[in-house]
Amino acid sequence: MKRPEKREVLIFQKIDELYDFLIKKWKEISEKAIEERGIFAVALSGGETPVEFYQRLDDSKNLLAWGKTHIFLADERFVPFDEPDSNYGMIKEALLRHIAIPAENIHSVHIYKTPEMSAKRYEEEIKIFFRLKEDKFPQFDLIILGIGEEGHTASLFPGDSALSETHRLTADVHLDNERHDRVSLTLPVINHTRNIIFLVLGESKAEIIKQILENPQSCLPVSRVRAENGRLFFLLDKAASLLLSEKNSTPKK
Ligand code: 6PG
Repeated sequence: MKRPEKREVLIFQKIDELYDFLIKKWKEISEKAIEERGIFAVALSGGETPVEFYQRLDDSKNLLAWGKTHIFLADERFVPFDEPDSNYGMIKEALLRHIAIPAENIHSVHIYKTPEMSAKRYEEEIKIFFRLKEDKFPQFDLIILGIGEEGHTASLFPGDSALSETHRLTADVHLDNERHDRVSLTLPVINHTRNIIFLVLGESKAEIIKQILENPQSCLPVSRVRAENGRLFFLLDKAASLLLSEKNSTPKK
């Protein structure tokens, strides 16, 4: 069965154009959220790909309403904040320490005794922030996601039980072949987000991008991300789009 085409795939020949587009989108989405609900809630990913984007966001700091922006993490590795693998540590270095954002607007995944405990506390923080009733999911305004070479996103990995979570907002993730345990937002939380943006750069992602975008039967974690009530974008640089047979990207609006 062919699934309905709700995603927008944008291929950028020049990296500067991609970053300009993404910063413009962030501004647009945040202004609309602040106008409608008074705050802008965004979840950010770790990994290497978004580092430059976060640094560029910092250059646009005067254009963005940091006082009304609430930053969450899409996922975190179970390591102290000052270790190089910490997603929060990376985001702090690249962005947070350069902008005037109140400390209470930053909702990181705290590292408690166990990943289970960290996931639970993070879930409680999200529930309180969004004033959620039992069995409801939050609606983040924006989530920036990356894609791993085997098709994982946030910390939802192919074949892992966290991917099947349907009730909880967060999951603790334990994988034999990953260096760290992790904590991740779950698929239903991601799918409830108003704007989901995958940022995918580099030739090492070309193969998986082809699988995700050209195989309608794909069950990879990324392929299970659907914008249930919003928009879903794939922003690709030229290298990541290298193996796509259909090179026409959705017109950029
Ligand atoms: C993480 C992430 C993860 C990441 C992908 C892509 O903590 O690792 O949040 O989902 O986005 O693994 O990582 P790269 O950008 O480093 O390729």
